Amino acid sequence: MKKFITYLIIIIMLIASISFAIAKNNNNQKPPNTIENKEDKIIKEMENLDYYKKENKNRYISYYNSNKDLSIEDIVTRINIGLDNKYYTQTKITPYHNKDYILVNKYIQMKDNYIPENLENLDTSYSRSGMKLVKNAKIALEKMIQEAKEEGYTIRVMSSYRSYNYQVNLYNRYKEEDGEEKADTYSARPGFSEHQTGLCIDIDDNKLNYTDFENSKSFNWMQENAHKYGYILRYPEDKTEITGYTYESWHYRYVGEKIATYIKKHNITFDEYYVRFIEDKEK
Ligand code: DAL
Ligand code: ZN
Repeated sequence: MKKFITYLIIIIMLIASISFAIAKNNNNQKPPNTIENKEDKIIKEMENLDYYKKENKNRYISYYNSNKDLSIEDIVTRINIGLDNKYYTQTKITPYHNKDYILVNKYIQMKDNYIPENLENLDTSYSRSGMKLVKNAKIALEKMIQEAKEEGYTIRVMSSYRSYNYQVNLYNRYKEEDGEEKADTYSARPGFSEHQTGLCIDIDDNKLNYTDFENSKSFNWMQENAHKYGYILRYPEDKTEITGYTYESWHYRYVGEKIATYIKKHNITFDEYYVRFIEDKEK
């Protein structure tokens, strides 16, 4: 009897250890965690982009999870711009003052009371009085206006460089009229306006109101030709999600011919160009 019990115990132990081994083996063969694997794969692809930033990894993943229709490039680009953050909540000061490729938007501002170097007066033959622009932008503008004129199109500058204090008054007026939320869709807060860089212009055709510029022949000419002079349409109709501003058919930004041509060819915004090719690289 004693022998029988010993055998029985041995058999039970054997069965138990075999079952344990089988269970363990099954566990190892469990299908891999597919979500984590997919995310690892996405991150690997992202790491190949030279504008990938390690510190943004979790933000890329969470943006990917709620924007699966976007390409890997678009996810990394948008997170680097900061689009997963509420406007004006995570802001930094640009390191590129006085460069043609300075970017300002709802995440990047200029240092306090920044006044660009090389501001020059514009001639009243093609602008309202008192207008100024940075020298490079002015030279390119005059060439553009002259060549447009030779082809029969009029371009007139309605607004160009605006000081910090000018933008304070303008923005406050809009805020009083329309409330902060609405004003933010079309007017930059002081320190965040491209007009303070001295590198952009609001234009009309000297006939229609500037807000109707898109209905003018001069607008079509600008669409075809602005990039050749280094200017881009800065707030296009189909890019409001990226620029953070409603469509402005009249607002053009000087970025230089090379950048303007790339932006036009690839149909991207300057915000996207900046995080891919300028930020941390200086061109
Ligand atoms: N209207 C443009 C966005 C500005 O205020 O600078
Ligand atoms: Zn403007």
